[in-house]
Amino acid sequence: MSNFYEERVLSVHHWTDTLFSFKTTRDPTFRFKNGQFTMIGIQVEGKPLLRAYSVVSPNYEDGLEFFSIKVQNGPLTSRLQHLKEGDPVIVGRKATGTLVLDNLLPGRNLYLMGTGTGLAPFMSLIRDPETYERFEKVVLLHGCRQVSELAYGELITKDLPQDEFLGEEISSKLIYYPTVTREPFRNRGRITDLITSGQLFTDIGLPALEAEHDRVMLCGSPQMLADLKIMLEGSGFSEGNHGEPGHYVIEKAFVEK
Ligand code: A2P
Repeated sequence: MSNFYEERVLSVHHWTDTLFSFKTTRDPTFRFKNGQFTMIGIQVEGKPLLRAYSVVSPNYEDGLEFFSIKVQNGPLTSRLQHLKEGDPVIVGRKATGTLVLDNLLPGRNLYLMGTGTGLAPFMSLIRDPETYERFEKVVLLHGCRQVSELAYGELITKDLPQDEFLGEEISSKLIYYPTVTREPFRNRGRITDLITSGQLFTDIGLPALEAEHDRVMLCGSPQMLADLKIMLEGSGFSEGNHGEPGHYVIEKAFVEK
C-alpha cells in the first residue's frame, strides 16, 4: 500500500501575494487529530515532493484544507501556489504532531499563539468541541506583519459564532486576538511584547498567564518559539509531549526557503 493518498483540489483562495489556502478531497480512511499535520505535495517528474502541513479543517469535515506561504524559489510552494480546482495533490496517510489536546494537562484557559501560517493547526482546534469541553476560555492569538495577512479573520468572527453545532460555545468561550506589527491596527505589537507589557490581558480581560491555570500551544517561526519558550519556562510552565502532558506544547510553522 502506498504511503500517500491521491486527492484533488476543490478550491484555492489567495489571501495575499505570499499566502494562500486550498481545499482538497479527503479519503474517508484518513484519520487525524485536530492540531496535527501531515505531508502534502505534488508529483514532480514522477517523484513526490512533500512538506509538512497542518490541517486547517476540523477532523469531522469531509474535505481537507491547508494554509501555505508562497516562496518564489521554494521547491514546493513555487509550484503549489499555481494549483487549480481539479489538480491532483498527494496527502500523507499518517498525521502526527504535538499540538493536540491530550498533550496538555487540564487547565482553565487555553492560549493558542500563532504567527504567520502558524495559525493553521489552531483553525482545526477552535472547531473541535473537545477544546470547549476542556477549557473555560480559548484565546486565539494571531501575529502578522500586515493586516492583509490575518487570514481566516472573517471565518472566525462571522461564520464560527453562527455555526449550527458549535456557535454557542464559540461565542461564549473563544477570544480572537489578531495583532499586527508593521502597520496600524487596533492591536499592535509582537505576541511576546503584548504578554510582557500586560497589554494582552488588559485587552481581553483575563489575568496574566500562570502555569497553575493556563495552557499554551505555540506555532510559529523558530525565533518566536524560542522567545516564548524562555518566557513560559521562566514562569514555571513545563513542555508537554506524547509521553507526558505539560503546561504548553510547541510546533514549528511551515517554512520553505
Ligand atoms: P515583526 O514584524 O516585529 O518581525 P514573519 O512573517 O517574519 O514570520 O513574522 C510574523 C509575525 O511574527 C510578525 O508580526 C513578526 O513581528 C512576529 N515575530 C517575529 N519574530 C518574533 C518573535 N521572536 N517573537 C514574537 N513575534 C515575532
